[in-house]
Amino acid sequence: MGSKLVGCGSSVPKLLISNDDLARIVETSDEWISVRTGIRNRRVLSGNETLSGFAVDAAKGALQMAQLEAEEVDLVIMCTSTPDDLFGCGTQVQRDLGCKNAWAFDVTAACSGFIVGLITATRFIKGGGFQNILVIGADALSRYVDWTDRGTCILFGDAAGAVLVQACHSDEDGLLGFDLHSDGHGHRQLNALAQGDDDKLISNSNGAPLFPPRKSSFSCIQMNGKEVFRFAVRCVPQSIEAALEEAGLTSSSIDWLLLHQANQRIIDAVSNRLEIPSDKVISNLANYGNTSAASIPLALDEAIRGGKIQAGNTIATAGFGAGLTWGSAIIKW
Ligand code: ACO
Repeated sequence: MGSKLVGCGSSVPKLLISNDDLARIVETSDEWISVRTGIRNRRVLSGNETLSGFAVDAAKGALQMAQLEAEEVDLVIMCTSTPDDLFGCGTQVQRDLGCKNAWAFDVTAACSGFIVGLITATRFIKGGGFQNILVIGADALSRYVDWTDRGTCILFGDAAGAVLVQACHSDEDGLLGFDLHSDGHGHRQLNALAQGDDDKLISNSNGAPLFPPRKSSFSCIQMNGKEVFRFAVRCVPQSIEAALEEAGLTSSSIDWLLLHQANQRIIDAVSNRLEIPSDKVISNLANYGNTSAASIPLALDEAIRGGKIQAGNTIATAGFGAGLTWGSAIIKW
């Protein structure tokens, strides 16, 4: 049994933070940020907005394009590291979409989350019994940004993107090859750790703690930018080459390169390494920054709806980020 993508959608918050806005709160400039990263604006959640609300909007777009009703979905895979609820928000998305015949779960793999979710969906379809799977990549990293740290606050934005993966005959398979990796040795380079609330310790009459300290919040994002940059430029081309090999393709035979949108210099370095010309490279991070698990389906949706990616096109896509995690998928639209 094969899998093909039959719909996509995306949704971003209204509140826009420009580089000039950031230059008012930290010592930076529009020029520094755009030259070093390619980012100009990012969107962030505000007021009562929830991540699941944007995930639902993105998924509705995918269902509409696929001409499917919510009841026809068998599985909802919510890829996020920043759920509205510690226990995940896939089930809330399933409820709000009205996917009453589906079950739902969350996948946490940071900026590789969408690729991991997409491959997971194709494995469920291959195993049998699943026809329509919604894969949603959504993150609100703004919740964990230290807005006084100019090394990280310039990078991230919030968004949601979704695709509908449908079972098909194996000769129509839209997943041509894939490659997945993780390496916990690099965890120290990028993380947001659970942290304790020492003031909430419950002690006995002698003052000794009765229970382990509660860890009910997380630190802001800690990142060694240079190391993450080096990791991405080294590992992503290798991963794409491995996925291309599985697909029986070379980098010259793909129509589009669509990488996780982290930094334009990473995108340029990877495309140069693979000798893919810039007119085949999709980039929208100037408008949204790094939206983590949302960045690939968001850029995919814009490129499809904007007429760039056409039916039958082959796309090499790769995610990379905290964990460390990275992976690639060669897909046919
Ligand atoms: N504005 C002005 N100056 C700055 C800023 C800023 N926003 N940030 C850092 N600087 C300064 C530094 O303090 C340093 O000054 P110094 O030379 O006086 O010490 C100088 O600029 C150079 O700093 P570097 O950190 O060396 O700058 P670099 O060229 O490495 O760029 C950046 C930093 C943009 C973060 C880059 O390393 C990068 O993009 N790394 C990849 C990060 C990434 O993609 N992370 C996300 C991964 S996906 C995920 O899972 C979330």
